[in-house]
Amino acid sequence: MTRITKAVFPVAGMGTRFLPATKATPKEMMPVVDKPLIQYAVEEAVAAGMTEMIFVTGRGKRAIEDHFDTAVELESELEKRGQAPLLRMVRDIVPPSVACTYVRQSQALGLGHAILCARPVVGDAPFAVLLADELIDSRPPVLKQMAGVFARRGRSVIAVQNVARRDTRRYGIVSIEPRSKTPHRISGIVEKPQPAAAPSTLAVLGRYILTPRVFHHLQRVKPGAGGEIQLTDAIAALLEEEDVFAHEFDGTRYDCGSKLGYLQANLWYALRHPEVGKEFRKYLRGLGMRLPK
Ligand code: G1P
Repeated sequence: MTRITKAVFPVAGMGTRFLPATKATPKEMMPVVDKPLIQYAVEEAVAAGMTEMIFVTGRGKRAIEDHFDTAVELESELEKRGQAPLLRMVRDIVPPSVACTYVRQSQALGLGHAILCARPVVGDAPFAVLLADELIDSRPPVLKQMAGVFARRGRSVIAVQNVARRDTRRYGIVSIEPRSKTPHRISGIVEKPQPAAAPSTLAVLGRYILTPRVFHHLQRVKPGAGGEIQLTDAIAALLEEEDVFAHEFDGTRYDCGSKLGYLQANLWYALRHPEVGKEFRKYLRGLGMRLPK
C-alpha cells in the first residue's frame, strides 16, 4: 500500500472571527499556550509519517512561511547567549527530513478550491488535509489513526465525531448505515445542513486522507454552500466511484476557530504544560475551581 507522505494545510482564510487579533496576524499563528495552531497541525502530520508539508496560503500569511523557515538572526543570538534549549526548540520546529512548500490561493473561492490549488504539488498520490483551527488531542494522534485505516482499506478516510444536532449547520455531515462500526463506509455527505435536514450528527472535523481522484471532482463541482467550491461536494461525487470511510475517533477536539473553543484549548493545554502547568493548576484551585487530576 502506498505510504502517504504529503499533507496539505489550507491556510488562506481570513480569520474574521478573531478580529482584531487576526488583522495583521494569520489566525493559524495564534498560539495555544506557546505554540501556534499551525505547528500543532504540522507536528500531527509528522507523527503520522508525512514528510512533505504543502501550505496553501494567501495574502497576509507570510508569518507562516517565516515560522517554518530558518531564523538565522534569532539562532545566532540564542547561540551567543548560550541558550541551548531555546535554540534546540527553534531549530526543531520542522525536522530536517521534512520539506515545506507554499502554494498561493489568489482568490478565496472555498476550501475545495484551496485543495485544488495544491494539485500540482500533490500530483497523483494520496494525501492528507489538516485544518489547523481544529486542534485534536488524541493518542495516537488522529491523523496517525487515520493513516492506519488508509493502510488497511486503501481508500479515502475522513475524521468524524458526533456534534449536537443544532450545530450541524457548521459542518460537513456524513450518512452511514445503521449500526455500522468505525471505520464507517459513508453513504452520503452534505455541507452544513440545517439541523432538521441533517442525515446524522456525525460531523467532519478537519482531518482527511484523500485519494488523488478527488481532484478530478474538485475541478468539476459547482459552487455549493456559501457560494464556495466545497471539498465536501467533491467527496460526495467521489463516493459514487470509490468507497470513502469515516473514522470516528476517540479524543478531544477543540474548535479553535471559535473564541470559546480556543479558550478551552488554552486552558487544557496550559494545565498540562511542563513549564507552567503546575502553577496554573494551583492558581485555578486557588480561585475555587475543581479540576480533574
Ligand atoms: C470546513 C468544511 C466542513 C468541516 C469543517 C470542520 O468548514 O467545509 O465540512 O466540517 O471545516 O472544521 P469551515 O469551518 O471551513 O466553514
